[in-house]
Amino acid sequence: MNNKILIAGGSSGIGYGIAKHFYEKGWDVLITGRNKDKLNLAKATMPGIHTLVYDSADEEHLADLINFIESNWNGKLDILVNSAGHVELGSLKDISKSSLEDMYQAHLIGPTLLASKCLKFLAATKGHILNITSSHGIKVYSDLSAYGSAKAGLNMLTKIWALELAPIGVKVNAIAPGPTNTDILKSAGYDEETILAIQDSEKKQIPLQRRGNVEDIVSVAVSILDSEWTTGIIIPVDGGISIS
Ligand SMILES: NC(=O)c1ccc[n+]([C@@H]2O[C@H](COP(=O)([O-])OP(=O)(O)OC[C@H]3O[C@@H](n4cnc5c(N)ncnc54)[C@H](OP(=O)(O)O)[C@@H]3O)[C@@H](O)[C@H]2O)c1
Repeated sequence: MNNKILIAGGSSGIGYGIAKHFYEKGWDVLITGRNKDKLNLAKATMPGIHTLVYDSADEEHLADLINFIESNWNGKLDILVNSAGHVELGSLKDISKSSLEDMYQAHLIGPTLLASKCLKFLAATKGHILNITSSHGIKVYSDLSAYGSAKAGLNMLTKIWALELAPIGVKVNAIAPGPTNTDILKSAGYDEETILAIQDSEKKQIPLQRRGNVEDIVSVAVSILDSEWTTGIIIPVDGGISIS
């Protein structure tokens, strides 16, 4: 039976890049996103890939995902990638309960429940969980209470799960990308001018003097997912921004 990978948030950006790699290697790949049109666009470039609409806040979507793996893949899963996420900037003064809930849902509650539900599959394959966190969960920035704390939390969850699941052979690691060229800022609703200003400011803080590309993240993801004896690590792939 083919190897199988589920990439939550695989319809674009970093998740899409990881999906493309495994698709081209001949794996069975299931990608998710909230927007059906984006999923269809991704599928157009990877015929035969499986897609499901999944909003991490929707418990029915989670049940659909698990049903898909049980019914279509006979409960086999080798890798779970938690890449689903979006960003929101905001000062402490103006923070709202809904923005906190949204960020914690997307980056903490969603990935935790998904990992928990996939555990029975991953235990059988001695599989791997890869969390896509962020340099914002390592380096301290102002105006990022919700997103920064959510990503820092996901870094800690990576280590907790790694320790908890090592006895059953499941590896858990994280990549903490720095500023990477994807549509994440556009999806957050920022206008072109604001996006350029944010990108310019980020670039100036990066020791290697350029923003990342999806391929920069994918190459490290592939190498960590290839390792059978690495667990509980958070790898910054960020041009050095987290040490600047
Ligand atoms: N790009 C960067 O600079 C950067 C840096 C550090 C960390 N990251 C992290 O990397 C991950 C991937 O981001 P990206 O840059 O590749 O952005 P992206 O291109 O916007 O991809 C995000 C993916 O997640 C899905 N998604 C977003 N919010 C979701 C939610 N609440 N529930 C379910 N799916 C959701 C999106 O599809 P829909 O929009 O259709 O839902 C899409 O498939 C995120 O966790 C992000 O925080 C990105």
